[in-house]
Amino acid sequence: MEWLTSPELVLQTAGADQTRALAGAIAPLCQPGDMLLLAGDLGAGKTTFAQGFGAGLGITETITSPTFTLVRHYAVSGHPPLRTLLHADVYRLDRLQEIVDLGLGELVDDGGVALVEWGDVAEPVLGEGSLAIALLAAGHDDHRVISVRAAGTTWCTRWTALQAALAPWRAEP
Ligand SMILES: Nc1ncnc2c1ncn2[C@@H]1O[C@H](COP(=O)(O)OP(=O)(O)OP(=O)(O)O)[C@@H](O)[C@H]1O
Ligand SMILES: [Mg+2]
Repeated sequence: MEWLTSPELVLQTAGADQTRALAGAIAPLCQPGDMLLLAGDLGAGKTTFAQGFGAGLGITETITSPTFTLVRHYAVSGHPPLRTLLHADVYRLDRLQEIVDLGLGELVDDGGVALVEWGDVAEPVLGEGSLAIALLAAGHDDHRVISVRAAGTTWCTRWTALQAALAPWRAEP
């Protein structure tokens, strides 16, 4: 990618609840315009991450996979100026232009933050300023290694806070 990228934070979780808690710790640091691109195989935990992220923003509705709807919208209250969580799944889209046509860029600029499952394929069109989050099954069934890195400069001023928020899940070197 042409933009600068941050160092990678390497985290680990044991169980879905820990992944939800980790995602919930990132959520309060987000601001309108943010895009989180979630990568990982089928069943890696992308939707589980979205559930915890939504809970971290105070969303009480059940967050389910948006595979067939492509983008679900959830109202956010209590975290101004954030007003909406967009949860997208681009697995079924074949062309980058179809991802552009979802209009996530415009939606996040209007008080939104977006989580995009299979977002790694969308990195060429959505990647600048995003957080790239990759989930990988590791060892035991319920263990995941989760890597987080920022592309572009929008996370520079929040990076120290993000590192602190994610410290409980840091993988041992
Ligand atoms: N550490 C963990 N983190 C996340 N999920 C876990 C973990 N351990 C076990 N799981 C389980 O793995 C499954 C993850 O499913 P989930 O729907 O979140 O994956 P996904 O990446 O969204 O899959 P898909 O590609 O089908 O959209 C859930 O059943 C969850 O309970
Ligand atoms: Mg999913």
